[in-house]
Amino acid sequence: MFAFSLALALLPFISATVIDVQVGAGGKLAYSPEAISAKVGDQVVFHFNAKNHTVTQSSFASPCGKKDGGVNSGFQPVPANQTDNLPTFTVTVNNTDPIWIYCAQAANTPNSHCGAGMVFAINCGLDGAPNSFTNFKNSALAIGASLSASAAAASSTAYTPASTASAADAAWTTAAYGDYTIPPAPTATLVTQAVTLGTSSWTTTYSSYPGSAAPTPNSVEGTVHKVIVGGPGKLAFDPPTISAQPRDVVVFEFHQKNHTVTQSSFDDPCRKLNANGVTGFDSGFMPVADDATEFPTWNFTVTDTAPVWAYCRQQLPSSHCGAGMVFAINSVETSPRNFAAFQNVAKALNGTAVLSTSPNNTTTTSQDPSGAASVKVGFASVSILVAALIGSLL
Ligand SMILES: *[C@@H]1O[C@H](CO)[C@@H](O)[C@H](O)[C@H]1NC(C)=O
Ligand SMILES: *[C@@H]1O[C@H](CO)[C@@H](O)[C@H](O)[C@H]1NC(C)=O
Ligand SMILES: *[C@@H]1O[C@H](CO)[C@@H](O)[C@H](O)[C@H]1NC(C)=O
Ligand SMILES: *[C@@H]1O[C@H](CO)[C@@H](O)[C@H](O)[C@H]1NC(C)=O
Ligand SMILES: *[C@@H]1O[C@H](CO)[C@@H](O)[C@H](O)[C@H]1NC(C)=O
Ligand SMILES: *[C@@H]1O[C@H](CO)[C@@H](O)[C@H](O)[C@H]1NC(C)=O
Ligand SMILES: *[C@@H]1O[C@H](CO)[C@@H](O)[C@H](O)[C@H]1NC(C)=O
Ligand SMILES: *[C@@H]1O[C@H](CO)[C@@H](O)[C@H](O)[C@H]1NC(C)=O
Repeated sequence: MFAFSLALALLPFISATVIDVQVGAGGKLAYSPEAISAKVGDQVVFHFNAKNHTVTQSSFASPCGKKDGGVNSGFQPVPANQTDNLPTFTVTVNNTDPIWIYCAQAANTPNSHCGAGMVFAINCGLDGAPNSFTNFKNSALAIGASLSASAAAASSTAYTPASTASAADAAWTTAAYGDYTIPPAPTATLVTQAVTLGTSSWTTTYSSYPGSAAPTPNSVEGTVHKVIVGGPGKLAFDPPTISAQPRDVVVFEFHQKNHTVTQSSFDDPCRKLNANGVTGFDSGFMPVADDATEFPTWNFTVTDTAPVWAYCRQQLPSSHCGAGMVFAINSVETSPRNFAAFQNVAKALNGTAVLSTSPNNTTTTSQDPSGAASVKVGFASVSILVAALIGSLL
């Protein structure tokens, strides 16, 4: 009896835990991890990385709206070069009710961090439950999409591609050949925005798509992304899709067999891009012997934040592209033109699979096995002034 009451008395002290959460680590608009479970008495310590984020309490019903009387860190601006002594904000868990959190930066604008999926939860429902984290984040993303759509509609500089009359009646269309139905091309909006990187500032004009992110480079040097092409028994790019910012370098490392990386387009995945005066990039064939230990590389520098689609041009003994050997940079994973949809078009047009009339209308939010964020923030196309941008930084 004595032992029992002692244990009970000590329980709150023994079991209270400190849980660390990174806010905006790696320049991502995300909390990491995205969702946690915590016991009464636990302390959740948020560490604010570079940029200017908040930890603000909302509700499940209104993910991007401040809850009256809820916890709120306020804005925590952190310079790009600060990597230690990060400011923190601590939330004490007082009961087992779910606590819903979002970043209030750029609230109610198309650049809303919450609308880009920058949300977090403590003690939310499991996946499958109505109040799961996935459902919470999806409603935040839907708010972001609707903010972008209304900004596009309101913008007097909005333009529509010649092929679509307006975003509202943008109809499903067909791929370049094969009568295969594909989602409409997104409608772009011209945006002029001031960009600050460290001590440099400049103004850039770019085309923004619904769900697309800001054109801010990660750093003056850019980030290096490595992609493995092929390998023993593999007809794939690994990883098959990346998100990259202007100035980033993608290093394609060619492994076994004889592959290429060649730029194509969403509606013509297995042929080299050649439209409107734009010719796609092409690494050329990179034969690699079965016993090779050194692998040739070919580099591509990202200049744009619009999606870049690519494939392997090898057709011997059968089409690699038709087998699904395709790759994308900055595919907007929350849109119908996501990576899976692109790969389906490739398989339908050049694969041996029986042609179906329409791809699945998949809208996915990728999640890594740890449950941490890998929300594709979507992208904007920096079509103009990239040269001016580089000049201003050197
Ligand atoms: C941080 O963001 C808030 C809201 O957008 C803004 O008012 C504030 O000036 C920003 N602080 C810095 C240092 O950029
Ligand atoms: C960050 O950059 C600013 C301006 O260049 C400089 O004053 C500051 O000392 C730097 N801080 C660190 C931690 O490097
Ligand atoms: C828990 O209670 C403390 C003390 O009343 C309060 O400051 C804190 O904001 C509460 N935590 C939450 C998540 O509401
Ligand atoms: C690589 O593939 C291309 C296209 O099929 C072919 O022309 C070339 O001879 C191949 N190279 C080697 C070394 O097998
Ligand atoms: C590609 O870029 C990487 C990293 O910047 C560099 O080490 C490599 O030599 C480059 N490869 C080629 C073929 O230019
Ligand atoms: C895909 O099919 C088209 C049309 O038959 C053909 O022109 C193209 O070369 C094929 N591409 C690949 C990589 O199989
Ligand atoms: C598309 O949907 C069908 C029917 O629901 C399913 O059998 C198939 O596996 C799906 N394909 C992909 C690529 O998700
Ligand atoms: C996909 O969505 C479009 C537009 O909502 C619809 O017209 C089409 O029938 C859908 N296709 C499938 C296979 O569900």
